[in-house]
Amino acid sequence: TLRLCPPAPLALPHCALRHTSISGIPVPVGSILVPNLLAAHRDPDTWDHPEDFLPERFLAPGAPSRALLPFGCGARSCPGEGLARAELFVFLGWILREFRLEPPAAGEGAPGLGGSGGTVLRPPPFRLRLLPCLPPA
Ligand code: HEM
Repeated sequence: TLRLCPPAPLALPHCALRHTSISGIPVPVGSILVPNLLAAHRDPDTWDHPEDFLPERFLAPGAPSRALLPFGCGARSCPGEGLARAELFVFLGWILREFRLEPPAAGEGAPGLGGSGGTVLRPPPFRLRLLPCLPPA
C-alpha cells in the first residue's frame, strides 16, 4: 500500500546545495527539486506490473526494495518513519486479527486504489463491513 498509494506522493522540496546531475541531467546549484514518489513507485522500468497490488513481490529475491521510498531518503527523510511503521503494524495487525473485512453488500466491490491529489494522498470515501472473527470471551 505504501508503494501504490504513498501518503506523501510528492516529498518535500529540496534545494541543490551544489551543481550536480541526476541520470545525466544537470542540476544547477540552487535548483528546487520535488521528488515524485508516486511516479517512482509506479515506474515500469523498476517494477513489474506497477499498477497491481502484489505485496508478495517484496519476498522475491532481487525485489527492488530500495526503490520503495514512501518516507523519502537521505538526510531529510521522514523522522517519523519508525513511529509511523509501528503504528501501521499495530493497528493493521489488530484490525486483521479481530475482523474479517467484507464489502458492505453483495455486488459491491472492494474500495478503489485511487486517491485525491494534494499534499497528502487520501483514499476516496468507501464503505466496509468489519465482522468480528473471534467469539466474545
Ligand atoms: C505513513 C506515515 C508517513 C509517511 C508516508 C511520511 C512521509 C514523509 C515524506 C515523504 C517526507 C519528506 C521526505 C523528503 O522530502 O525526502 C516526510 C517528512 C517529514 N515527516 Fe513524515 N511521514 C509519515 C509520518 C510521519 C510522522 C508520524 C511524523 C512525526 C511524528 C512525521 C514527521 C515528518 C517531518 C518532521 C518531516 C520533515 C523532515 C525534514 O524536513 O527534514 N512523519 N514524511
